Amino acid sequence: MIQRLALPTSGEVARCPVRPYPARMPGGPSRLVVGISGATGVVYGVRALELARAAGVETHLVMTQAAALTATQETDLSAGDIAALADVSHKVSNVGASIASGSFPTEGMLIAPCSSRTLAAVAHGLSDNLLTRSAEVTLKERRRLVVLFRETPLTLAHLRAMEAVTSMGGIVMPPVPALYTRPSSVEEVVDFIVGRALDLFGIEVPDLPRWNGLRPRRALA
Ligand SMILES: Cc1cc2nc3c(=O)[nH]c(=O)nc-3n(C[C@H](O)[C@H](O)[C@H](O)COP(=O)(O)O)c2cc1C
Repeated sequence: MIQRLALPTSGEVARCPVRPYPARMPGGPSRLVVGISGATGVVYGVRALELARAAGVETHLVMTQAAALTATQETDLSAGDIAALADVSHKVSNVGASIASGSFPTEGMLIAPCSSRTLAAVAHGLSDNLLTRSAEVTLKERRRLVVLFRETPLTLAHLRAMEAVTSMGGIVMPPVPALYTRPSSVEEVVDFIVGRALDLFGIEVPDLPRWNGLRPRRALA
């Protein structure tokens, strides 16, 4: 008999503790795990690595095989080029890597982009590769987990998986562009989304456009 995943009620979801900013490791480096899975938008992970490095954050990358495939379709970067953007790059099969253990201090994990397969694995605590294991560790240690889940349209399975991740304290952040910034390039759209994701870790991205209230109509022309 197939058993349904028992999801918490909306009241339990509301009680889930979410800290405004993760605590920095005392005396240690500011360290972020970046997972890149095989949804379209490998560039989100690439920019996250670049912007976190520029902010002086030590990055640990884990990339799935499907992500390496999407990179070949969407960018001119090889998996090696992307790995070189991180301070440490881990093989997705290496479940013995540092980031597979809660005793390795990090400020959290960003999965950018997050495929529906990876989201489902995180939602069910599968830990079937280093990326999903690291996400599980992030949740069990009550550290910040932000997932840029990319799929559309959505099935009930996607919605349930997003609810499960949210109920465990993760933040589901679909990479949806904001048009009030009047972006003039894909790069601007990507930087805004990645910058907002890094905001959630307290990592500052200089010159990120921010809403400062309505502008007079004339100023918009
Ligand atoms: C070019 C390309 C684009 C894809 N885009 C998406 C997507 O946006 N969302 C998604 O969930 N899967 C997408 N997929 C399918 C995933 O790569 C596939 O389900 C894979 O098994 C995910 O594995 P992973 O979670 O281990 O990375 C895409 C695949 C390719 C080749």
